[in-house]
Amino acid sequence: MHIRQPETSVEVQTPAKVNLSLEVIRKRADGYHEIETVITAVTIYDTLIFIPQVEEEIKLECRWACGAAARADRNSGIPAGPQNLVWRAVALVREEAGLKRGAAMLLVKRIPAAAGLGGASSDAAAALVAAHEAWQLGWPRQRLVELAARLGSDVPFFLTRGAAVCRGRGEKIEPFAPPRIHAVIARPPVGLSTPEVYSACRPAGATGEAAKLVADLSRGNTAAAAGRLNNGLQDAAARLTPWIKRLQQEFERQDVVGHQMSGSGSSYFGICRTARHARRLAARLRACNMGAVFAATTAVGHWNE
Ligand code: C5P
Repeated sequence: MHIRQPETSVEVQTPAKVNLSLEVIRKRADGYHEIETVITAVTIYDTLIFIPQVEEEIKLECRWACGAAARADRNSGIPAGPQNLVWRAVALVREEAGLKRGAAMLLVKRIPAAAGLGGASSDAAAALVAAHEAWQLGWPRQRLVELAARLGSDVPFFLTRGAAVCRGRGEKIEPFAPPRIHAVIARPPVGLSTPEVYSACRPAGATGEAAKLVADLSRGNTAAAAGRLNNGLQDAAARLTPWIKRLQQEFERQDVVGHQMSGSGSSYFGICRTARHARRLAARLRACNMGAVFAATTAVGHWNE
């Protein structure tokens, strides 16, 4: 996440993520699933512009960036009111701070929706940070992390520098130094709903693979890390849309270091050897109509560094 504060506004660039590993351990009594997942931020960014207002209203305008490949399916409208986590994040900060202030916000989307790339969660984290900075609240980081967890399981991750093992329902964060990985990410024309994918999945218990994956990444051994990619939601997602199998078969034909679905899908990514390799593969996948295709790198950055 990167922040600029030109005059009275706050502008946040907030990244997408991919899950290098995602184990679904068990279903919990509260309806969530206990997971262990290794996440890295990647260089596809949404932009949030936050302008503090004296009036109490929270105004949010959302639009896709010009020519955004993210608009892969034409039905993917972005909600602009309280249904949007950005709006709820700002309302939550305002309530916690006991302020009677409002905001005018513009959210420019590039991260595809219903994709397992954390777009809505990333936007919510950006909104928390923007409101916190614009209203000069000076809270400890942990206070924002707690608010983030209330908004959604993936939101606290986006307050890290860009890589973490996440446990619990996803909100318990153990950061690690972001690795440098090049990837190609394809979001097919069909998206998937996170609750539907979770309810179709079969929890498989814990294996402790996440620690080994992080150790490989810390040693810079991308090939070994790629051999440990896993996603316990992929079979469930593949039962919900044929696109997952189709993408898997396409990536198997390509010369990638490793590949799998991200999060609850429907995006699928392959790890490439270099940025050039990722760009070449992205061009090839675009030519075979695989939806919105991005060449990306792991992203580093933090609002409070
Ligand atoms: O936390 P969040 O609101 O993003 O989760 C959306 C839905 O995804 C939850 O209501 C739940 O159905 C499912 N989920 C889950 N286990 C998790 C995270 C999400 O079952 N660890």
